[in-house]
Amino acid sequence: MIRFILNDRLVETRLPPGSALLDYIRYGQHLTGTKIGCREGDCGACTVLEGRLENNQLHYRSITSCLTPLGNAHGKHIVSVEGLNMERLSPVQQAFADENASQCGFCTPGFVVSLSGYAISTKNPSRSDAIDSMNGNICRCTGYKSIERAAERVARLLREKDPEKPFDWLVHQGFLPAYFLDIPRRLIGLVDGSQESGSGSLILGGGTDLLVQKPDEVAAADVSLVFDKQEMKGIRERDRHIYIGAAATANDIMDSSLMADLFPEIRKYFKLVSSDPIRNMGTLAGNLVNASPIGDLSIFFLALEASLDLMQPATGIRRRVALRDFFLEYKKLDLKPGELVMGLRFPIPVNPFFFNFEKVSKRTHLDIASVNTAICLETEGDKISTCRLSCGGVGPVPLYLVETSAFLREKTLSASVLLEANRTLQKEIKPIGDIRGSKEYKALLARQLFFAHFLRLFPERVNAEELFALSRSQ
Ligand code: FES
Ligand code: FES
Repeated sequence: MIRFILNDRLVETRLPPGSALLDYIRYGQHLTGTKIGCREGDCGACTVLEGRLENNQLHYRSITSCLTPLGNAHGKHIVSVEGLNMERLSPVQQAFADENASQCGFCTPGFVVSLSGYAISTKNPSRSDAIDSMNGNICRCTGYKSIERAAERVARLLREKDPEKPFDWLVHQGFLPAYFLDIPRRLIGLVDGSQESGSGSLILGGGTDLLVQKPDEVAAADVSLVFDKQEMKGIRERDRHIYIGAAATANDIMDSSLMADLFPEIRKYFKLVSSDPIRNMGTLAGNLVNASPIGDLSIFFLALEASLDLMQPATGIRRRVALRDFFLEYKKLDLKPGELVMGLRFPIPVNPFFFNFEKVSKRTHLDIASVNTAICLETEGDKISTCRLSCGGVGPVPLYLVETSAFLREKTLSASVLLEANRTLQKEIKPIGDIRGSKEYKALLARQLFFAHFLRLFPERVNAEELFALSRSQ
């Protein structure tokens, strides 16, 4: 039995745990404010809030209900746009009305839900963050300026938010209905009556891939839900390694203080991975076992010498495999039947290091890469002492560039060394033409992004004009 609080009501259902939360909301509960746009996580028309208790604190995050397995709602508070309605318009709804931020209105519930989620979670409101909170929502009518003005209004109002008692303040100011104040007490009871996560052969995490690829098959399948398995969550430091649970989401990784300490630019990198609702759902292991040649997290962690902890649940037998050996051939992994990815670990570099991630896609956010790449370097004086370089979209699997990495070791950085390294790189990659670009385009992107690593990391030592003048002359 799946039990959760939908807006202010406790609901229970025996519908398949792999079916879409969106369909339950619209067709099971007739709450039609949650719209169906793309059913692929791209448009945000189906956005709802997922509330959960963590250390007795209530946290909400936006998710796309079209890709959320119904079973993942168990024990949580799900808020559709109807759950934000009161006798009067909330300040978010009023701002949309006052700024003419709604025209045909199809996208509006999704925008209102996202911005209301921001009102709940922000501790330091700003215009830019309020606008960014709607990065998973698309509108084809307004041209966005009116929506941005609505977000700016809301951010201004939120400056008065009481950081000590945010929910009391939000209810008092009419952002949220009063029933929100009783949600923590109601969730405690729900969490205790926990649901079976299933023991089916289809492992289901955040749903962001499988519910796009084969929603009907997933709905009909006997699934194992792993999204909320505590033993697969968390990000920890142990024995000079960072360990990340398989069910950690992309946003869990991005928001981790451990990761932010190591990678100060991690928010910039992960903002390229997809929109917030998708990063709130998509798991680390899901991104890896998808085996896409351009999996963003595969590329990110390949450059960090990561390895995976695998386990056979039936026997408890565990083994460890280097991430670079995990991808055997196109969509083929070193993963035995029934074996689960439990987590990923990577060594914390001993010496000061330089890391960078680059990605080019047709849409900057919320798109699959044409080419992506990451690099991790250590230097001694002017010399590169270690180099690990990965590149996606240029072969049948996410590539760890062994030859190019080796070439750069013990080299002193210069334009001519980078040009020579690029020649090695071009021999190592094998791009093919597809919907994301011709093979020539991808080879060119691989070169440009390779150079971009060094232009970003060593602007005082690598000069763009010299680099490109030299490459034109050769
Ligand atoms: Fe478009 Fe869900 S319907 S994101
Ligand atoms: Fe029509 Fe946004 S108002 S799609």
